[in-house]
Amino acid sequence: MEQVIIFDHPLIQHKISILRDKNTGTNEFRALVEEIAMLMAYEALRDLPLKDEEVTTPIETCMTPKIAGRKLAVVPILRAGLGMVNGILALVPSAKVGHIGLYRDEVTHEPHEYFCKLPAPIEERTIVVTDPMLATGGSAVAAVNFIKEHGGKKIKFMSIIAAPEGLNRLQEAHPDIQIYVGHLDRCLNKDAYICPGLGDAGDRIFGTK
Ligand code: PRP
Ligand code: URA
Repeated sequence: MEQVIIFDHPLIQHKISILRDKNTGTNEFRALVEEIAMLMAYEALRDLPLKDEEVTTPIETCMTPKIAGRKLAVVPILRAGLGMVNGILALVPSAKVGHIGLYRDEVTHEPHEYFCKLPAPIEERTIVVTDPMLATGGSAVAAVNFIKEHGGKKIKFMSIIAAPEGLNRLQEAHPDIQIYVGHLDRCLNKDAYICPGLGDAGDRIFGTK
């Protein structure tokens, strides 16, 4: 399996274009982030393990595949990653949800941890880390570091928009994880915002600015 998947599906591209528009309001923005996360998860979860189970249909009994093993863990990076969780839970309602709280220092752009709670046993679960924005990559690398320190092994990272700088940094720091990106943008600006990007994802999801 390839380490990085950059989506080219027209539905995802169309929805990302609406997200970028500064006139898109909080309600619509939230709904679109969920929808995009759901479309991305459909592809990102194509390697979930299956096990045949016996099912009796109205016609006969057969062996038929169901998702096997420990339940999936969805781990949003707070705050903005929270916006993607319900889209994934729509596909996998039984998934467990962990949280990693990180904020980016406005001057150094380095991430600071303020919360970490993961569903046990994390080492036995497929883990999907969500954050709509992969900018410098500092938050993503730190989040995956924490998860590995807690024993996490099978890790997938999903972001809606990535900058080349962040994608390269995450790939180099964690060559063993799968990375799913809705769109790869041009670059970062001097404030480490993604260009053209969509602005501050957390503020747009939660209406805080
Ligand atoms: C944003 C975004 C990512 C991070 C990306 O979060 O949601 O977590 O920045 O930047 P990086 O790749 O350079 O680390 P922010 O720190 O603004 O916190 P918020 O989600 O609470 O708004
Ligand atoms: N975080 C955001 O929310 N947007 C960016 O462009 C960069 C980091």
